[in-house]
Amino acid sequence: MKSQFTVLAIETSCDETSAAIVCQNESGVHVRSNIVSSQIQLHAKWGGVVPSLAAREHVVNIIPVIKQAFLEAHILPEHVDCIAVTNRPGLIPALLIGTMTAKTLSWLWKKPLIGIHHIEGHIYANSIENDKEETLSNIPHTKNEHRKKEFNFPILALVVSGGHTQIVLMRNHVTYEIIGETQDDAAGEAFDKVARLLGLEYPGGPAVSREAKKYREQTPQIQRGIVLPRPMIQSKNYHFSFSGLKTAVLTVVKKTPPDVLPQIIPEICHEFQQAVIDVLTEKTLRAAQEFSPKTILLAGGVSANIELRAQLEKKVHEEFSDVTYLVPSLEYSVDNAVMIGAAACFRWKIMSAKEREQAKKSWKSLEISAHERMRT
Ligand code: KG4
Ligand code: ZN
Repeated sequence: MKSQFTVLAIETSCDETSAAIVCQNESGVHVRSNIVSSQIQLHAKWGGVVPSLAAREHVVNIIPVIKQAFLEAHILPEHVDCIAVTNRPGLIPALLIGTMTAKTLSWLWKKPLIGIHHIEGHIYANSIENDKEETLSNIPHTKNEHRKKEFNFPILALVVSGGHTQIVLMRNHVTYEIIGETQDDAAGEAFDKVARLLGLEYPGGPAVSREAKKYREQTPQIQRGIVLPRPMIQSKNYHFSFSGLKTAVLTVVKKTPPDVLPQIIPEICHEFQQAVIDVLTEKTLRAAQEFSPKTILLAGGVSANIELRAQLEKKVHEEFSDVTYLVPSLEYSVDNAVMIGAAACFRWKIMSAKEREQAKKSWKSLEISAHERMRT
């Protein structure tokens, strides 16, 4: 392999149309460009992502987004070694647009094509080097983000997104053992549903965490002493359940007089967020005791939650001082194509010459899937 490997990555599994140029060399995975066209405004009025609308927007945006990714990276298609695309899991109409575009470019430019699992991408967001620290320093982050992004195995990954909540054990690159997962709602989904029943905007995660911050920073005039459950925190496995927690919030809302509710929304959000964080951190640390990882990492859209990032980091440092803690930069926590390109770099490294040759014909065979689980 030549010293620099360059990937064009495409991500359209949900409501972001994204393309990126990513390079891997001896010093790690570097971002040459990252273009994300968000559809949040479009879906906000429906309170969630509408698959057919998402696909229509992807169709409009995908070519301009890819063009922009090349322009900002100052490279030409002939410099690309491989094309990577999210082909599973996700909304079928949305996945179709990204994969059809990637297949067409792979055929046209005669480049190998690799299909990447969306969650594998979220995990590999932790391998992206922070080359622009000065820009990042304007946003809250933990000091850990500036550490070199090395994957020391075994790795324990806490994956928390809108569709997934899993604890994943990795004994090597692109090798995944799901040791626990949610039995119902994902953590991000719970944030979104709680926001909705409190009348907060979509997506719910940032809205709930903003309200929770208000509670911590201002002394509320009315305090209810709200206590919510920590579902399955004592169970002997690494599974989760968040739908009961959402119902517990609904019960509080129903019991509260409508004129009082707006005043206690920050307290509800604070307690809800803390309940989610308590369960996630407790189970992750317990899994760390059993599996003795060298690295614990956080991945998925909910990893943008500042309190979760900070509280898990503190606990890991207190209880496992030898373990490296990795979190993605905030811009790579939520959906983006850079993470898909990063995962592709590591997949390519372990592919045989035959597999690399076969990847040139993937434009014919690559399939999409709405629910497929992550596998090696
Ligand atoms: O990974 P992601 O962008 O898309 C999926 O793969 O699902 O995750 C989106 C999820 C949404 O449920 C959103 O509410 C949640 O991540 N999220 C957050 C925060 N930012 C995004 N949850 C809690 N706190 C946040 N700051
Ligand atoms: Zn995601």
